[in-house]
Amino acid sequence: MGRWGFFISFEGIEGSGKSTLAERFYEKFKDYGFPVIFTREPGGTEAGERIRDIILNEKFDIDPYTELLLFLSARKENVKKIILPALKEGKIVVCDRFDDSSFAYQGFGRGIPLRWITRLNKMVTDGLKPDLTFLIDITPETGFSRIERKDRIEKENKHFHEKVRKGFLTLARRAKKRIKVVDGNKNIIDNLKICEEITFEKLLEKKKFLKKIREIKEEV
Ligand code: TYD
Repeated sequence: MGRWGFFISFEGIEGSGKSTLAERFYEKFKDYGFPVIFTREPGGTEAGERIRDIILNEKFDIDPYTELLLFLSARKENVKKIILPALKEGKIVVCDRFDDSSFAYQGFGRGIPLRWITRLNKMVTDGLKPDLTFLIDITPETGFSRIERKDRIEKENKHFHEKVRKGFLTLARRAKKRIKVVDGNKNIIDNLKICEEITFEKLLEKKKFLKKIREIKEEV
């Protein structure tokens, strides 16, 4: 698969700063001249954004399994309509959250057995995994001090978010090569640089965009 692209996800609990970091990372790579697209979960497609509205709406009391299946429905649309076509065209895909969130929130957080999530998720992604994941780690206290208006999931108690954070860190320990933990207390400029360096290393390892990366390094 000569022109297959490169898939990067950003993960972390609420208020970790991952969305801002993911967007700035995308902008930077676009400015460098890489073929790159940005998407998010839940969301990405029009149907996915509607599903997002249902999931996050505080007026609904949603069963954990319904919640999981809604996230997976949004993911299927995103994978099929946005992520896979872009990877097939050789693009870099930057995704704000992907399947690690389902394991951390619905698995470690809500208590749904991980093996079920693994199976259902595979049905949706067909085995597609990010090539690289940045986990922006922060304590729930710090994270929540940064949030103004809370949605349905953000309204869960501190204990829930502790479980989610620990879940993410467990996933990172189990997939050391793919998931890189970034300290969410550091400033965004430093973290952006760290993410960029790690991405360049990975791309070089996979022999992707070699010419482009050399050009950028020569300019600096
Ligand atoms: P988030 O991406 O953090 O958006 P915002 O920055 O606008 O709050 O919100 C999405 C929420 O969905 C977040 O609470 C995490 C949750 N989530 C899951 O529980 N499971 C999943 O599989 C995904 C993708 C997200």
